[in-house]
Amino acid sequence: MEDRAQTNSVQKHDKGLNTQNGLQTILVREFEPEDKPAVQLIFSEGLMEMVPDTAFRGLRHHRESLLLYSAMTVVCFIITMCWWVIGLLPAIVLCGRYFYSRRVIHGYLEHAMSTDMGDIEGFYMKSPDSCLWVAVLEGKVVGVVAAVGQRKSGGAVELQRMCVDRSYRRCGVGVALGRKVLEFAVTRRCSSVVLGTTAYTRAAHQLYRRLGFRCVGVTNGYVTPGARCSLLERIFYRVRHHHYSLDVQNSKTLQMDNTDLGGGSDVSAAGK
Ligand SMILES: CC(C)(COP(=O)(O)OP(=O)(O)OC[C@H]1O[C@@H](n2cnc3c(N)ncnc32)[C@H](O)[C@@H]1OP(=O)(O)O)[C@@H](O)C(=O)NCCC(=O)NCCS
Repeated sequence: MEDRAQTNSVQKHDKGLNTQNGLQTILVREFEPEDKPAVQLIFSEGLMEMVPDTAFRGLRHHRESLLLYSAMTVVCFIITMCWWVIGLLPAIVLCGRYFYSRRVIHGYLEHAMSTDMGDIEGFYMKSPDSCLWVAVLEGKVVGVVAAVGQRKSGGAVELQRMCVDRSYRRCGVGVALGRKVLEFAVTRRCSSVVLGTTAYTRAAHQLYRRLGFRCVGVTNGYVTPGARCSLLERIFYRVRHHHYSLDVQNSKTLQMDNTDLGGGSDVSAAGK
């Protein structure tokens, strides 16, 4: 396969990754069949990290869930008149949120593994409208990202499956992968790059803002693919879906980064 790799020299932030000269090279290249186990592992570990994120951090973002749990507490007290039952309720709620977040996210993982992430070659690599790239650092696959474009020229490209191995974060891998998708969109003359995320961690949102995306909408109570939507699941699993968009034709950030994306001397890449 033609090597359409992009290289980025980055200053390491993580002490464990420092080399003698303090610089590492991140290679972003197209997926190859032997990358599949590493890609699936990075993706599944990254996705399962969202369980505590959704169950615990997410609680702070959903006032309606807090109101519901308070109402449940009052009803329980009226029915039982028992203080120890009330004392146990927060623990029950947190266990419920963890259990149902895990169940839904695991269902989503199974759904992804039985579709695109199970057949990466067939889903992303056969069509000129899509691609999946891996980031390689120290000879190891440490990150993944995919792009799926609309067939007609001038349409949008959707950034998907962005994930970086936990031990290699804050090293610029996420930015290098994101830029590869932007480059793909620029070379295909697409109008915009869009993405959606249910993550609550700062890392994902900061990364997308850093790449020049802006949040264009939030869907509260988003139905995750693979969810069963039972009553208990609705009570204990509730997420927001943030929609991000970047206008690749008019983006100031992209114009500033134009040398990196198209004409820079250290970039040997051309999109698919
Ligand atoms: C989100 C994720 C892909 C970021 O990857 P990364 O390789 O660590 O990102 P980078 O090193 O390129 O960081 C780029 C910028 O993102 C922001 N960022 C990254 N990690 C951050 C963190 N833990 N806290 C705050 N900001 C963070 C910073 O602005 C950073 O720039 P800086 O280092 O110059 O300050 C990674 O944390 C990840 O895989 N998380 C789990 C999966 C996930 O959430 N995916 C996205 C959901 S769609």
